[in-house]
Amino acid sequence: MLRRRGKWGSQLGFILAAAGSAVGLGNIWRFPYMTGENGGAPFVFIYILCVIIIGLPILLAELAIGRHTEKNPVGAFKNLAPRSGWFLVGLLGVATGIGILSYYAVIAGWTVGYFFKTVTGAFSTQLTAEDSKIIFETFVSNPGLVMLCLFVFIVMTAYVVRGGVSKGIERWSKILMPTLFIMLVLLTIRSVTLPGAVDGLRFYLQPDFSEITLTTFAKALGQAMFSMSLGMGAMITYGSYIGKKESLPSSAAWVCFSDLSVALISGLMIFPALFAMNISPEEGPGLVFVVLPTIFARIPGGLFFGTGFFLLLSVAALTSTISLLEVVVAFLVDQYRWSRTKAVVSMSALAFFVGIPSALSLGASTWLSNIPFVNRGFLDLFNIILGNYSLIIGSFLIALFVSYKWGIRAVVAEVRRENNIFYFRRTWAFLIRYITPIAILAIFVYIMITGNYF
Ligand code: PFF
Repeated sequence: MLRRRGKWGSQLGFILAAAGSAVGLGNIWRFPYMTGENGGAPFVFIYILCVIIIGLPILLAELAIGRHTEKNPVGAFKNLAPRSGWFLVGLLGVATGIGILSYYAVIAGWTVGYFFKTVTGAFSTQLTAEDSKIIFETFVSNPGLVMLCLFVFIVMTAYVVRGGVSKGIERWSKILMPTLFIMLVLLTIRSVTLPGAVDGLRFYLQPDFSEITLTTFAKALGQAMFSMSLGMGAMITYGSYIGKKESLPSSAAWVCFSDLSVALISGLMIFPALFAMNISPEEGPGLVFVVLPTIFARIPGGLFFGTGFFLLLSVAALTSTISLLEVVVAFLVDQYRWSRTKAVVSMSALAFFVGIPSALSLGASTWLSNIPFVNRGFLDLFNIILGNYSLIIGSFLIALFVSYKWGIRAVVAEVRRENNIFYFRRTWAFLIRYITPIAILAIFVYIMITGNYF
């Protein structure tokens, strides 16, 4: 039986869907707290470098692999390098996808919970940072509630992915992505006009280059891969639905630009407000959930801005969880001829069950919250192993694959299909062949030697 694979309805639809995958909790929740913990402006500077020099070339490579083969990550590698072990890179991606989905949906679930908390006025106008911390801790340590939030988020994701490529993912992204952008800009305007915002802008935008170390590079690189959804075949999968006429470099540039701009605007939204409220930028992962409600409680129109923010974060997270689930669904539909419904239902159930230990690892279960020997919570551990290392390793292998196995020429031919122009062809080839693998290897070796995993 010949099955027709889905296709994006238009280039804009694809760009919005791929940007939707890239833009998520990584930009709005993770990027600001990483920046806060790593000294502000110097981190931002290195992050931008990593996105453009390492992220963008890999993004283009993943899209080319996807469009050429019209396959999921495993099928794509099997197709381009038959009877070799390269398909394992795809398999690593699929497994990483389910793993990331499982804990990502936990945090995404909190955003939904916080949306309802804000709407129902849980945060009074007198809220202090301590009160907010207690509210957060009580919330995340309630096992029933966090599991319910996780469940709700997985169901929402499954519902969209079940709809398929054009009717599901593309249609929703077209509505959700622009809404998100408008809300972000509104909140940023609110933040930068608060009295005392200037110090925050300085912390965020004025780099002191003497503070840059290799650790800054390591953290910024992991953040760049996570934020751009690279290294696990999400962009191979999305690339497989692109029409042959579309220009890959321009699509890649648009996706990269949206991802970078949302991250940078998120910082612009958070740091001025933080400094205006006299709160330390080094709050860690709780930054968004602990600190922002105290800010919303104290600004005029706080209920509106607070509700808008958590809605925005849920929307951003949803377009990302969709892509995480789509990777494994495409794999099962392509490789094993499963029906889309069967793949969606079983894999969402799997992600839900795998997500339970993460959901319970912020206080609900003492053991899961502080696993012996590693002294970290389960979610934290998953986030480091899968969200950082798995993606960096995947990106490294993809760079090697296109450079030395499939070949630069083949990629160039794919990009140039239907007379498309490949500007910066040589720069791209140089970056993906030498700079990307060497930089990743150097950073990886450094991390291994110093044991500086975080
Ligand atoms: N890029 C997403 C974010 O920044 O939130 C997370 C993500 C989605 C990572 C899809 C990897 C992926 F394949």
